[in-house]
Amino acid sequence: MSSIKPHGGVLVNRIAAGSEREALLAEATSLTSIIVNNWTISDLDLIGVGAFSPLTGFLNEADYRSVVERMRLADGTVWSIPITLAVEEAKAAELSAGQRAALVGEDGIVYAVIDIDSIYSVDQKHEAVNVFKTADAEHPGVAKLYSRPSTYVGGAITVLNRPVPEKFNEFYFDPAETRRIFAEKGWKTVVGFQTRNPVHRAHEYIQKCAMEIVDALFLNPLVGETKSDDVPANVRMKSYIALLENYYPADRTFLGVFPAAMRYAGPREAIFHAMVRKNYGCTHFIVGRDHAGVGDYYGTYEAQELLRSFPAEDLGITPLFFEHSFFCTKCGNMASSKTCPHDKADHLTLSGTKVRALLRDGVCPPPEFSRPEVAKILIEGMSGQPV
Ligand code: ADX
Repeated sequence: MSSIKPHGGVLVNRIAAGSEREALLAEATSLTSIIVNNWTISDLDLIGVGAFSPLTGFLNEADYRSVVERMRLADGTVWSIPITLAVEEAKAAELSAGQRAALVGEDGIVYAVIDIDSIYSVDQKHEAVNVFKTADAEHPGVAKLYSRPSTYVGGAITVLNRPVPEKFNEFYFDPAETRRIFAEKGWKTVVGFQTRNPVHRAHEYIQKCAMEIVDALFLNPLVGETKSDDVPANVRMKSYIALLENYYPADRTFLGVFPAAMRYAGPREAIFHAMVRKNYGCTHFIVGRDHAGVGDYYGTYEAQELLRSFPAEDLGITPLFFEHSFFCTKCGNMASSKTCPHDKADHLTLSGTKVRALLRDGVCPPPEFSRPEVAKILIEGMSGQPV
């Protein structure tokens, strides 16, 4: 087993198997059904496999209020993002605490059952301001929140069927598996890297700086729902594989996906991302510039500041903080303001929009920005896509 404890001490397992599963599936046919979308299916599966340990289900009212107000569960455990099950009011009226209900996908598959603990109404604006630091409906995470009903159902879940990935199945690992694999490889320290983007030179630089001080890198791209102008996960996956093959030591890197939805909650999401990677068995976690941010809703280093504000023992994973990194033409290498004395004019920086425009037009960004193997795959995958 991996040396690092899961968040809350125990790796949650809410996946039913064998006769328990058969009995629950049979019972589900007579239970009230709650129809769930892909986002919720991804959440419930991640709860089921323990990626969201110590959560055993969707937040009940006490935990929800505590998470929204103080970034901790009611028992004090650090938890920064409310993982909730929103239901239409009419549906909520059919349900009551103490009851079991079936969570059914739009495809008719019963993904889980929930043992309802509480049904509660929330003030979405308050949640938005606390979690996303803005009530602005233009923020993609806030827009998502506002698009959901404001009645939540909390309670422990038991997973009966798991979503089947359409592609790249070989890169899906549950936390119990990554923990076992890291241990088998003899890695005592593993740094987790969250990304929703292709890995460009700045990402590579901070990963490799981290790799100098730990045993291995767990490249753990988020492949759940992202906003429409982010590079699609299937394209990114190809680019990660090419990058690792060409530029990383195979015996010190491991690629596995994080099948969660992106919240774009900046600082709060950085805490969440770190806790989840601890559950996957990472001992360290990279937090660079504007982690999980979008637009200019968050300060460049706000995620780092928030992580620093928690006692180390409450986090239980070591965050590794990195400054904004870039290629410096005078230094002739990757650098940050911590290592480079030169002027901004000597630094190569490209905005995401600019890079997407280049790729869409079939133009490779400079090799100081992106490895040619990566750029080639992105061009193939992005040509004709909206900027
Ligand atoms: S995120 O939404 O998943 O955080 P992204 O994939 O761009 O977005 O970032 C992955 C990680 O790399 C985050 O920790 C982010 O802070 C960091 N990062 C991205 N670009 C840079 C950069 N130029 N310099 C330093 N850190 C960066």
